[in-house]
Amino acid sequence: MRQQYLIVLHIIIVFIPKCFVFNEDCLLSQWSSNATTLINSTYLNAPRDIYVDKNNILYVLDTGSGRIQRLGSNLTLETTFINVTARPLFNSRSISSAAISGDLNGNIYILDTGNARVIKWSLDNMNGTVVAGGNGYGNATNQLNSPDGMFIDVNTLFIWIADTYNSRIVRWESPSTGVFFYGSNGSNSDQFYLPFGLFVDTDDSNTLYVADTYNHRVQMWMSGATNGTTVAGQTGTYGIGPSVLYYPVTVIGDKNQNLFILSSGTDSIMKWKVGSNMGVLIVGTYSSGSSSNQLYFSYNFKFGPDNSIFVADTGNNRIQKFAFSCVNVTSITTMMTTKPTSTVTSRTASSILTTCLFNSTIMSMTTIQRSSSVFIDCFHFQRLSIIFSSIFILIINK
Ligand SMILES: *[C@@H]1O[C@H](CO)[C@@H](O)[C@H](O)[C@H]1NC(C)=O
Ligand SMILES: *[C@@H]1O[C@H](CO)[C@@H](O)[C@H](O)[C@H]1NC(C)=O
Ligand SMILES: *[C@@H]1O[C@H](CO)[C@@H](O)[C@H](O)[C@H]1NC(C)=O
Ligand SMILES: *[C@@H]1O[C@H](CO)[C@@H](O)[C@H](O)[C@H]1NC(C)=O
Ligand SMILES: *[C@@H]1O[C@H](CO)[C@@H](O)[C@H](O)[C@H]1NC(C)=O
Ligand SMILES: *[C@@H]1O[C@H](CO)[C@@H](O)[C@H](O)[C@H]1NC(C)=O
Ligand SMILES: *[C@@H]1O[C@H](CO)[C@@H](O)[C@H](O)[C@H]1NC(C)=O
Ligand SMILES: *[C@@H]1O[C@H](CO)[C@@H](O)[C@H](O)[C@H]1NC(C)=O
Ligand SMILES: *[C@@H]1O[C@H](CO)[C@@H](O)[C@H](O)[C@H]1NC(C)=O
Ligand SMILES: *[C@@H]1O[C@H](CO)[C@@H](O)[C@H](O)[C@H]1NC(C)=O
Repeated sequence: MRQQYLIVLHIIIVFIPKCFVFNEDCLLSQWSSNATTLINSTYLNAPRDIYVDKNNILYVLDTGSGRIQRLGSNLTLETTFINVTARPLFNSRSISSAAISGDLNGNIYILDTGNARVIKWSLDNMNGTVVAGGNGYGNATNQLNSPDGMFIDVNTLFIWIADTYNSRIVRWESPSTGVFFYGSNGSNSDQFYLPFGLFVDTDDSNTLYVADTYNHRVQMWMSGATNGTTVAGQTGTYGIGPSVLYYPVTVIGDKNQNLFILSSGTDSIMKWKVGSNMGVLIVGTYSSGSSSNQLYFSYNFKFGPDNSIFVADTGNNRIQKFAFSCVNVTSITTMMTTKPTSTVTSRTASSILTTCLFNSTIMSMTTIQRSSSVFIDCFHFQRLSIIFSSIFILIINK
């Protein structure tokens, strides 16, 4: 058969509006492969989680020292913001606290795992108040059992908890409106197996995403649903590679339904679009370690200012920052052909041309080379093609 070419699309994009705003139309989000250390072992002992408030103040739940530390925008560490060990609510079990978060009024919430409760600290009550649980370990409706993950809905102040050892998710509203439960132990679509983390997409009808840790998957539950669907990983299958997770412990979503998933088995973060059967490695090397591109016994990360990824690198006693950048795309050509050709990536000093073949579709793209670390692989490219078509429409509409 003769080769047939049909040029579907050829756009020169010199300027892409909103390209640099995360959650919008950044065509190629990148995070530096090597992190910088914000706070190191001189000041930290097993930092388990972090929280970045609306003023970009970074709070560190430093479990080994029983403290919450604050790092302001001037990067000066305030080591005694809350010395938990000096507070009346503290007891020896509080040392295993697993999560920290906050609301828009400046209150701080600690998931006190060892005491099966959530404590709220506010500037006018630095003694803390129990706002969820606090009735001992158990599976009753007012109890928790080694909870490991927490999400505060800042609009409603509902406290969502990964009630890990009960293999259920709890939505703790208030004593008057009640407590709601999702799931039970198992591997069916309405079950979880020791879930460590959760994320609620408050901009998308409170869709719930659960890091279903021991099932090696992320489950999505629409609001009001009685079961979920697997949107990342494969139930019961774990390993190293783009199509599997390995004890996922934390999940955070963005406005485009990209999930960022930290697997504790690989100490790596993958970006996984809902509906895709593969993810892309964003942070880590798929193996644990102490180099600047690695993590060790990490459980939590958050997005910081400028969309950087901040990781509580627990085992390395440090807080790591993986800087964000948005790569400019200058030229896109998409062609259809009946005949396959090869896949080529060529580089010059200032640009990279990537040509990928997907069955009968050739796609090629030229990017401005920002640094030697920029590399657009063919898998990434395939994902991008979906975004390109929407950008194309956007430009026509302008
Ligand atoms: C990307 O494009 C924007 C807008 O034209 C420009 O300000 C920025 O410097 C460009 N960045 C790179 C890395 O070329
Ligand atoms: C990252 O750090 C490693 C050493 O830990 C170094 O070999 C590598 O060149 C660095 N990569 C970049 C992009 O700076
Ligand atoms: C920790 O950071 C301080 C400065 O912030 C530095 O002086 C010290 O050498 C660092 N310690 C380690 C072990 O890297
Ligand atoms: C850093 O900022 C905090 C307030 O966020 C302030 O209390 C402190 O004095 C500042 N430290 C320095 C060295 O500027
Ligand atoms: C925290 O409080 C405890 C108990 O009062 C005290 O022993 C410890 O020195 C304090 N730590 C700091 C860093 O202030
Ligand atoms: C905090 O606890 C201390 C010691 O138990 C007590 O004296 C103080 O009144 C408490 N403060 C508040 C605001 O509850
Ligand atoms: C709840 O706990 C009780 C006592 O430990 C146990 O008998 C029961 O099976 C548990 N229920 C569930 C649903 O796990
Ligand atoms: C919980 O579910 C998992 C996965 O189906 C199963 O392997 C495990 O035995 C269950 N545990 C209990 C206590 O039922
Ligand atoms: C999941 O829930 C839907 C309704 O919410 C129901 O129709 C479906 O049968 C359920 N599936 C399973 C496997 O429980
Ligand atoms: C590519 O071709 C194979 C074999 O014809 C087919 O199974 C597969 O679904 C195709 N993939 C795409 C993305 O079209």
